[in-house]
Amino acid sequence: MTVHFIGAGPGAPDLLTLRGRDLIAASPVCLYAGSLIPVDVLDHCPPGARIINTAPMGLDEIMAEIAAAHAAGHDVARLHSGDLSVWSAMGEQLRRLRAMDIPVTITPGVPAFAAAAAALEAELTLPELAQSLVLTRTPGRASTMPPAESLTNFGATGATLAIHLSIHNLAQVVADLMPAYGADCPVAVVWRASWPDQRIVRATLETIEQAVADSMERTALILVGRVLEARDFAESSLYAPGYDRRFRPQDAASRFAGASE
Ligand SMILES: C[S@@+](CC[C@H](N)C(=O)[O-])C[C@H]1O[C@@H](n2cnc3c(N)ncnc32)[C@H](O)[C@@H]1O
Repeated sequence: MTVHFIGAGPGAPDLLTLRGRDLIAASPVCLYAGSLIPVDVLDHCPPGARIINTAPMGLDEIMAEIAAAHAAGHDVARLHSGDLSVWSAMGEQLRRLRAMDIPVTITPGVPAFAAAAAALEAELTLPELAQSLVLTRTPGRASTMPPAESLTNFGATGATLAIHLSIHNLAQVVADLMPAYGADCPVAVVWRASWPDQRIVRATLETIEQAVADSMERTALILVGRVLEARDFAESSLYAPGYDRRFRPQDAASRFAGASE
């Protein structure tokens, strides 16, 4: 018996990986994390599968379900939205499962930031403008932030920011970033990226609060950075005519000559 952790992607059912789909189809038990998992993904469960929404459950109850599946010899598909490596609560489940000697597999999923970037038709790293992307959040009711992980500190780098779980803190996000990024810095908010009701608002740090107004939907990602509206950025060297590289040696003297064969 194995617990298969599966990143279910940002919302569109066809953004599930083939591996994730096949593991769901092979598991007689499916535990899925609430409202961000599209119901179409659950259609991959085998007939008669035990399908449980874990949103209203505590960790002990979830572990009890897994222990029961373990006793019955049933594999479990454990679905979380997006990818499992960020804000999935997988870490605490893995710790319990290791203590119970229950084997696991982990199948990554498409994270929300990637779906939001796709919706914006944007590359979040561009030559000379930003070569780093910070995935972060602001403090919430249930989660404090390590003191050094402030938006002001991240903002000092000028990196592109993908700010999760924070649409209700938009005023503070703007106040924290304004000094480093400037009032005209582009901001985009993407709600429910890849869902049929996906919505995008593009503005600047100065105008974003007014542009967002009182949207009730909280599943949103705030992206901040010059890359979002950049038009005259440099081209990468990779495809430049004279750039000597492994798959395009420039001449016989190249250190890559013959390397691509
Ligand atoms: C608990 S975190 C889950 C993150 C997820 N594990 C991932 O890989 O993206 C939930 C937050 O992710 C963001 N999020 C998740 N799905 C989203 C989507 N489809 N569109 C926009 N933001 C999304 C929102 O900021 C939301 O508050």
